[in-house]
Amino acid sequence: MPQIDLSLKQHSLALEEKIREKIAEESSISFSWFMQMALYQPGLGYYSSGTHKFGEQGDFVTSPELGGLFAKCMAKQFQQVLDQIETPIVLELGAGTGQFCFDCLLELDRLNCLPEKYCILEVSADLQQRQQDKIQGLPKHLQNIVTWIQQPSTEKFNGIIFANEVLDALPVEVFKLEDEQYQQMMVVWDDGFKQSWRSMPEPLKEQIQAKELGLADGYVSEFVPNLSAWLKTITESLQQGVVLFVDYGYERNAYYHPQRNQGTLVCFMQHQANFDYFENVGIQDMTAFVDFTAVAEAGDECGLDIDGYTTQAHFLMSMGIEQLLGDSENNYTEYYRNTTEMKKLVMPNEMGEKFKVIALSKNFDDELLGFSFSNQLHLL
Ligand SMILES: C[S@@+](CC[C@H](N)C(=O)[O-])C[C@H]1O[C@@H](n2cnc3c(N)ncnc32)[C@H](O)[C@@H]1O
Repeated sequence: MPQIDLSLKQHSLALEEKIREKIAEESSISFSWFMQMALYQPGLGYYSSGTHKFGEQGDFVTSPELGGLFAKCMAKQFQQVLDQIETPIVLELGAGTGQFCFDCLLELDRLNCLPEKYCILEVSADLQQRQQDKIQGLPKHLQNIVTWIQQPSTEKFNGIIFANEVLDALPVEVFKLEDEQYQQMMVVWDDGFKQSWRSMPEPLKEQIQAKELGLADGYVSEFVPNLSAWLKTITESLQQGVVLFVDYGYERNAYYHPQRNQGTLVCFMQHQANFDYFENVGIQDMTAFVDFTAVAEAGDECGLDIDGYTTQAHFLMSMGIEQLLGDSENNYTEYYRNTTEMKKLVMPNEMGEKFKVIALSKNFDDELLGFSFSNQLHLL
């Protein structure tokens, strides 16, 4: 474990106390509730408090934080959609530091295809503040189109819904298959947070059974409960447009592979992975890989078309990431920086294959450019 300074430790103890109060009220809480509090408890959860999180000084680096190439490629994909629909808006979920919004709006402006509005839906008040500070650095005409919303829009709109590394931050239920019965992990307090197991309640059992996983006894993994209900709230008001999710994950066969029998849940602190999710609550990230088949199924239940599924590498190559390097050939320093960034984004041993892009759409029939290099819908 990395060194943890005293103020962080106190922060963690304060959140621990809050979670203990909840457990004391209910005697045990589901893992998803524990994860919800660990990440989003107002003022104390990992994403809801002022800890560093992003970048070299934080716990992890996301694609938009590496430089501008990811946002430039996405903006080109956005352009294809924005150019074809009336009064489009962009809705970004979970905008982190606001870096993607910043770079994307500059590029959309350059491409002459700005949306009417760029809305950010962010659950963390602390991150919303950081995003607002960041957006102040944009030219006034771009600042003016950015707005923050607290709830998914109930007003009908056309456009794009985009989220990078948000699905992996949704709380998961942890399950175990024992004697052919699904057990749900609960969290109790016994001189520290501990796991205990109970028979999976019926509505959750139905969700996991519907996946028809055919797992061996003792298999432990996780799933996002009520994913289609969540997606419905996000996409219900979309009349025409595209939903793009980028994240690390697998299609279902690979996700629930017999050898992945301890699930994908992992914590990050200062760029080191660990599996001690009951330790250092609120000061380390907690995340699970994404089951992209579940995302596609949820999309289908919400009446969306499933248009594309591919690796981040193939998506960015389809959007011409290599040509963006060419722009900087006359400036060696920039060229070197761009090349390093591109390698991180597309190399298979970096983010290129672990990260996938999925596209869902409503009343939008064009083939999306990002999947022209490869579209692996058959894997879902
Ligand atoms: C790993 S960070 C990714 C941030 C940013 N998209 C990036 O790529 O740098 C996850 C983000 O999702 C936000 N988030 C988590 N659950 C959310 C939800 N249900 N709706 C909107 N934002 C959410 C978090 O507060 C945080 O900003």
